[in-house]
This record gives sequence, C-alpha cells and structure tokens, in this order.
Amino acid sequence: MPGQCAEFIPLEFPKRRLVPPGWSCLLAEVVVVENESVAGELVARSIRALIAGKPDAVLGLATGSTPLPIYRALARSLATDPLDVSRVRGFALDEYVGMPAGHPESYRAVITREVVEPLGLTAQNIHVPNGDPSAIQTAGREYEHAIVEAGGVDIQILGIGRTGHLGFNEPGSSFSSTTRVKTLTEETRADNARFFDSPDDVPMHCVTQGLGTVLRARHLVLLAFGAGKATAIAAAVEGPITASQPGSAIQFHPHVTVVIDEAAASKLANLAYYRHAWANKPTWQGI
Ligand code: GLP
Repeated sequence: MPGQCAEFIPLEFPKRRLVPPGWSCLLAEVVVVENESVAGELVARSIRALIAGKPDAVLGLATGSTPLPIYRALARSLATDPLDVSRVRGFALDEYVGMPAGHPESYRAVITREVVEPLGLTAQNIHVPNGDPSAIQTAGREYEHAIVEAGGVDIQILGIGRTGHLGFNEPGSSFSSTTRVKTLTEETRADNARFFDSPDDVPMHCVTQGLGTVLRARHLVLLAFGAGKATAIAAAVEGPITASQPGSAIQFHPHVTVVIDEAAASKLANLAYYRHAWANKPTWQGI
C-alpha cells in the first residue's frame, strides 16, 4: 500500500494573480499577529470576500487545531451578516487510512463538525480523500480529477506539522507529488495522539494531497501558532528548498500568505522586514 506510484500530473502554476509592474511576488508575505483569534479574523475576511465575488469558490480545507480560529471567525461573520454559501465547494487536504466509518477523528468527521455544519455549507460540495482501504488504489487519482474538474482550489488553508509537513506530506515527499498514500512519521503520530484514546490508535497511513497538488492552488495561506512551530516556519519561509522540509515548497508559489504569532515567528531572520512590509501595505491590496 505505501509507496504506490501516483499518476503524474504536471505542475501548473497559477497564472491569474495580477501583479502590478515592478512589484515582486517572489517572497511569501509574512504577517505576524497578536494571537490566533486575530489570525482567524484576518483570513476569514479574505475568504468571505472571495465567496462574495465567486459564490462557487473552491476552498482548500485543513484539519488540526491551527485553522479552527478561521472557521470559527467565518461562522460568526456568516451568522451576523449572512452570505449565500450554498454553492461553495471544498477539498480537504488529507484523511487517515482505515478509520471506521463515522469515527469522530476521521478527517471527514472533523471537516463536517468544524467546517460544513458551522458554516452551513452544502455537504455534497465538500470532498475528503477516501481512506477506505478497499478504495485506496484509485483514491488519489479520483481526488486529483475531482479538484481539476472543480477548476482548482482558490484558497488553500495550511497548517504545518513539527516535521515540516503540509497536509501529511512528511519529509522526503516529492514537490511534484499528487494525492497518494503516505506513511506517517512517529513524531506526527505522537503529535496527533492527543485526539485519540491511545497513541496506538493513531493510524499509520493516510491519503494526502501531494505537494504538487497544494502548489496548484491559486493562493496559499499558511498559519502557525506557538514556539513549537518556529523551526518549521523558519525552514518553510527562509530555509533551503528541500524535500527534507516539505514546508519549503511554498517558496515555489507566487502567492503565499504566512500568518503566524510572535512565538511561531521567533526564528525568522528577516522578521523586521516582514513587519515593515505589512505595516506599509497598500490598503487596496488584500492578503
Ligand atoms: C495534521 C494535519 C496537517 C496539520 C498538522 C498540524 O496532522 N494533517 O494538515 O497542518 O498536522 O496540526 P496542528 O494544526 O494541530 O498543529
């Protein structure tokens, strides 16, 4: 099962970003915020504006603790100022392999509980990779085709693991990889054990969008909070581009926003410049 070859889908970088002449979009924009709640509000505003302009927008959904403030801020915003989200589509980054149907920690269940229900999205429009072992041979290819058929992901929300993983692309994942089965590192299994009754219950395998899949999204928004993420963030934003640090794949992408708190930003060498650029950002320019 692990190690099966994914179908090769060539990388196609987004071409739609309009960059005024003379403006550089080669570096990720790093936004350092006071806390998770401010981060959630900032990204939720951007997603809301996206949906207002494109009612069938395609959201790239991440699990884990990090993106929760975004979903909660968006749910609050939609409750006080409703917007038609019935046509919004979504693709989760990953799923565990072999979780019993309906297990509360399957990513299908998490996305339903934390995103679909609070935001009032249409359940049929929200896709999660199929982690059923009997479907595993075709799960990756079918997921890739579904994303392409939807026209690609407009905004991809990302957390980052302590190993530097995006989705479940553990160190060593190819930058061209597409949705496929991966084996989780023991570090990641230990980190995710907090969601399970026992560490042994954390699945060994997952189906995850590849780094190549993630890089095809039109806008990447990577969030991280806490000192435990500082090394992974520094490697992703400023480190050498290497498959040993999957997060460093973001340096290939022309439109990346990194939203982090002070603790997660603490190992960035160019922090003063990021603060300067954010403080002087033109008001007409969103994230
Ligand atoms: C999980 C998910 C990732 C997530 C990461 C960090 O295992 N597969 O998508 O970004 O680990 O999780 P957290 O946000 O809980 O720190």
